[in-house]
Amino acid sequence: MQIFYTVISMSPFSAPTPFSFILFGASGNLAKLKIYPALYVLALKKRLPKDYAIVGYSRSGMDEVFFRSIVAESIKKDMMEVNDEILDEFLSHCHYVQGQYSKVEDYTPLNLKLKELEKNWKDAVRLAYLSIPPQIIPDVLKNLCKSDVRKHNGLFRCIVEKPVGHDMASFEAIQKVLVECLDEDEIYLLDHYLGKEAVRNIYYLRFANPILERLFKNSLINHVEVIADEAVGIEERAGYFEHTGTFRDMFQSHLLEMASLLTMRLRDTDDLIRESRQLTMGQFYLPPASDLSEIALQGQYVQGMREQKPENGYRKEEGVAGDSRTNTFVALKLFSRESRWQGVPFYLRSGKRLPKRETRISLQFQEPRIVGKGSAPNRLHIILQGEAGMRVELQTKLGGTEPEFRALILEDPLVCMGDCLPEHGILLLEAIHGNKTWFLTFEEVRTAWRLIDPIQAYLDKPDTPLHEYASGTKGPEEMDVWIGRDGLKWF
Ligand code: BG6
Repeated sequence: MQIFYTVISMSPFSAPTPFSFILFGASGNLAKLKIYPALYVLALKKRLPKDYAIVGYSRSGMDEVFFRSIVAESIKKDMMEVNDEILDEFLSHCHYVQGQYSKVEDYTPLNLKLKELEKNWKDAVRLAYLSIPPQIIPDVLKNLCKSDVRKHNGLFRCIVEKPVGHDMASFEAIQKVLVECLDEDEIYLLDHYLGKEAVRNIYYLRFANPILERLFKNSLINHVEVIADEAVGIEERAGYFEHTGTFRDMFQSHLLEMASLLTMRLRDTDDLIRESRQLTMGQFYLPPASDLSEIALQGQYVQGMREQKPENGYRKEEGVAGDSRTNTFVALKLFSRESRWQGVPFYLRSGKRLPKRETRISLQFQEPRIVGKGSAPNRLHIILQGEAGMRVELQTKLGGTEPEFRALILEDPLVCMGDCLPEHGILLLEAIHGNKTWFLTFEEVRTAWRLIDPIQAYLDKPDTPLHEYASGTKGPEEMDVWIGRDGLKWF
């Protein structure tokens, strides 16, 4: 077994000390979909120390053997190939404690378990990862602090997964409990998009290519699309999604963060990235409109076909109300007050059960003159997920006597070629190291809710249209009319 133990190093991309990772929401979808596979990859890549423990905590009654089988199954489902020896060794670090989130007495067995596991460790870090609905978070935080889970002989970190809150008021309630019970350096607000190599690369592409910075300004850019299209549906998450919807789920953090990384000021050192991102988020605003339907449009999928197989409509998904008005598709128009982006419209869009997964930023440049037959505006696409890549669309003459043009496309597959780690893995290591660069600030989250809340209130009104689209199609037809009012088409 010795060969699997990491040489403990101070590299920011491995864990330097023993740690316990307490996962609240251990039987939830996110844990299975993202967290267990990410932890396994850290084990596979030898980034974990000899002494560590993954302690699942949730309400579901199960023993350790069953818990390990869930962990193993989720890893096998996610990976093309699994190394059985490494998996077995990893599973031996996985433990489970059952308990209610709201009962402080249930945290005593959790603490006893942690103490037993950590008995011979030195300088252990305890991390509590809250992968639970926002409404339960205050109770868990209070209990973490009342019980001895937080007070141990070593560092403590609490990671709160986005969305932090359900709206501004619930965000403020969570913030209040967090700051009352924890120290600033113990609080980590996580948006897993900020752990994605490709998302961080939005910033670094700009940083490393001054030529792009010359082009990124309002006199040259006509408009911007920030898109997160998903092929998946709600994946057994009706309990969370019914009360959340695509707008809160995807826009409140993921899409706004992508837009911020595109528009924020570049800084000389990584230390200032967080502050710069926060300031830029505050520059986005909703354009004045006589009717909010000019700014936002929502939809919900109905039954459709994918690869010749029928797919349920949203209202037929398990756990969803037959008359649910939860949106599964939203488009939003925004502007920024950042001087170089003033007047440039940003169209943000995200939806579930669309034809394919594609996360991208596209910029269309101004067309100063009519060029000729066949020509199209210049565009730059930064495709972060799906068929990832960077694509520049230029124009060239077909050749011959006619002034006719064709597209000249320059492409590079923007795939991670270095030391690639899954987003939750890299963020976990950064939290252990106390590096908050790619974690959200309270102000960032607050600013996002300030933008989201009024639009969410409009979307929630019973008379706000909720356009249908068949599962597997590109979204409601009305989205073309909506952007068409600005004289544009979606790319
Ligand atoms: C999560 C949302 O934050 O992000 C999900 O809750 C969504 O609804 C997911 O599917 C998308 O993440 P990724 O990493 O698959 O793009």
